[in-house]
Amino acid sequence: MIENNYAASLNEIRSDIESLRGNSLLYQQKNFSARVEALDFIDFHIIGHIDALMPQISQPDELPLLRQDADKIKTELEHIDNQLFEELRAAIQSDAYKKKGFRSLVEDFTDLNLLPNGEEEIGYDNLDVFMNGLLPDRALPVPVQTLEAEMVYYQKTPARLVFEMVEQIRFSGEDVFFDIGSGLGQVAMLVNLLAGVKAIGIEFEPAFCSYASEVAAALNLPDVDFVNTDAREADYTNGTVFFMYTPFKGNMLLNVLDRLKQESTLRNITVITYGPCTPEVTLQGWLIPTGSIDGSIYKVAVFTSREPDSETMDARPGTVV
Ligand SMILES: C[S@@+](CC[C@H](N)C(=O)[O-])C[C@H]1O[C@@H](n2cnc3c(N)ncnc32)[C@H](O)[C@@H]1O
Repeated sequence: MIENNYAASLNEIRSDIESLRGNSLLYQQKNFSARVEALDFIDFHIIGHIDALMPQISQPDELPLLRQDADKIKTELEHIDNQLFEELRAAIQSDAYKKKGFRSLVEDFTDLNLLPNGEEEIGYDNLDVFMNGLLPDRALPVPVQTLEAEMVYYQKTPARLVFEMVEQIRFSGEDVFFDIGSGLGQVAMLVNLLAGVKAIGIEFEPAFCSYASEVAAALNLPDVDFVNTDAREADYTNGTVFFMYTPFKGNMLLNVLDRLKQESTLRNITVITYGPCTPEVTLQGWLIPTGSIDGSIYKVAVFTSREPDSETMDARPGTVV
């Protein structure tokens, strides 16, 4: 019985490997998304299957060879991706991407299919895998600062959300974008690549800030800056669009919103939120939601400031420390 099962498993693994080997589409550079699926299939289905069988079989004979075959296909597919990303990085570094536009360039390799006005909740998908490959490969930094109680630890905004946000905002050349709590810097870099505007990241953790600066320099993005400071103390001069993927909560959030409110007395600003900070921002009387806020915190929420001299600018009094 066990032998029958083992023979059936071997047949299945052989046939999985053969169908991958025979799929010439996977070896065409443009088919990035198909390769993502194939690499997942190799890791979790084929190699996972082989590794689970190995300890159960006293003489695994063919299994190690099948494992080698699976590893070989995996290496070949990864090599195609690495070459693709090297070419794309070179296009960014030399500004050649600007002719076609960054969005079209990405669209050649992944299915963007953006929904207008943040219609759906957004999570991670193949676009994030694409961005992970595209951004220069560096060892991830180890944080050196202890976060204060109201500060939120690093988590990346899904790349798709940034693409949708740029569609929604329609940046002009004069806009200055701030990512408040910019982590490893992907949002600021993406906004600069997609919209061509100046982008500034404000980050409390120095190791994250240095990492983001190095990546932006390696991609030759002179209009992207990262400043290592507490968002409560940051200089927001000239900022017109402010993004927050819930970098902090409580009084710290109210304090920074109060800083933004002061900026809005000098010029109209846009505030974009994602995550649990959205309901708190919705309560700010000086901000007007540009679309319906339906209670879902994992959609882009966009607010614009009221006219600088509007009588209705009072936020909730007495809550900022
Ligand atoms: C949820 S992550 C968002 C990261 C980034 N915006 C992104 O979307 O990829 C929040 C970030 O805010 C940073 N942060 C927390 N409190 C901060 C503060 N007072 N000033 C500046 N950055 C802060 C954290 O270190 C973390 O990197």
